[in-house]
Amino acid sequence: MTKELDWNNLSFGYIPTDYNVRCRYTDGHWGEIEVSDSEYINMHMAATCLHYGQEVFEGLKAFRGKDGKIRIFRLDENARRIASSARGIKMQPITEELFREMVIKAVKLNERFIPPYGSGASLYIRPLELGMSAQIGVHPSTEYLFMVMVTPVGPYFKEGFKPTNICIMREFDRVAPKGTGRWKVGGNYAASLEAGEKAHELGYSAVLYLDPREKKYLDECGPANFFAIKDGVYITPESESILPSITNKSLIQLAQDMGLKVERRHITIDELEHIQEAAACGTAAVASPVAEIDDIDTGKKYVVSQDGNPGPVVTALYNKLRGIQLGEEPDVYGWNTIVE
Ligand code: PLP
Ligand code: COI
Repeated sequence: MTKELDWNNLSFGYIPTDYNVRCRYTDGHWGEIEVSDSEYINMHMAATCLHYGQEVFEGLKAFRGKDGKIRIFRLDENARRIASSARGIKMQPITEELFREMVIKAVKLNERFIPPYGSGASLYIRPLELGMSAQIGVHPSTEYLFMVMVTPVGPYFKEGFKPTNICIMREFDRVAPKGTGRWKVGGNYAASLEAGEKAHELGYSAVLYLDPREKKYLDECGPANFFAIKDGVYITPESESILPSITNKSLIQLAQDMGLKVERRHITIDELEHIQEAAACGTAAVASPVAEIDDIDTGKKYVVSQDGNPGPVVTALYNKLRGIQLGEEPDVYGWNTIVE
């Protein structure tokens, strides 16, 4: 690193780090873990990831805590989810042990890129698996590459922890009703680009997708789940076409601990009239508060934040989650892996 990074002002972008970690699956087994200092991958031009989208990934974060220790949040949950995503598109599932070892190795090797405590930034960990066999027929690869790269990041939405406007657009679906939405498959994100760009052009931070079958219920919010606070109840969509967010799962637990009731169920668009708070939640988004939800097709606007500030419940949940990740609050559920 030639110059010191401006830790307090990082965006959610790519910054090169020193090393990445790789492992290849060939001849029916995973090979040795390799450390690489190259940002490039050498692959066959007929690899299945390039032609038929055989690619799955994860996103998790490492934090420098108040006590100086490094904590990785919910590593085991991400390990299980990437294996589930891989099975979903007929890729070789990565074992939990391999995932764990490679993630910890990548973090340790790039320790100098973990943003300091108090900067508000973190080290984003991006594990990805690629189908590598050279073939032109549409069938699963027999060879895979699993790799873990890391990069220091700031807030996903440039506004940080400030309410932003999101929109509903019926013109686009991200996934099909029984499709790949429940898995973290690269193709889902390609399918979201057109809607996402249109939303950004119109001044919105993200699209709140509706269920692709009936377009009646809320699904998820760009690269994040959605939750709302309605009369002291944490409500979040139940759907077969959304990614099971590990952040949402964590916030649900924290909400229950705070005495809130939790309902995971279908949420109709009309219900947005009666909510007091809302947020997009995910590893990158954390809990990003929502100011207003605009239904582009009907012109209806649901104002969530009257004064432009995050509401009290979203704020309390955000602070609690960050507190656990930074070692300021006790980790009673054992969510953090401390990197020694
Ligand atoms: N939904 C989608 C489509 C996502 O890309 C993400 C990000 O990972 C999430 C939800 C949130 O999941 P998590 O909280 O596990 O990061
Ligand atoms: C994450 O929150 O980790 C994600 O994967 C979102 C990402 C697509 C930016």
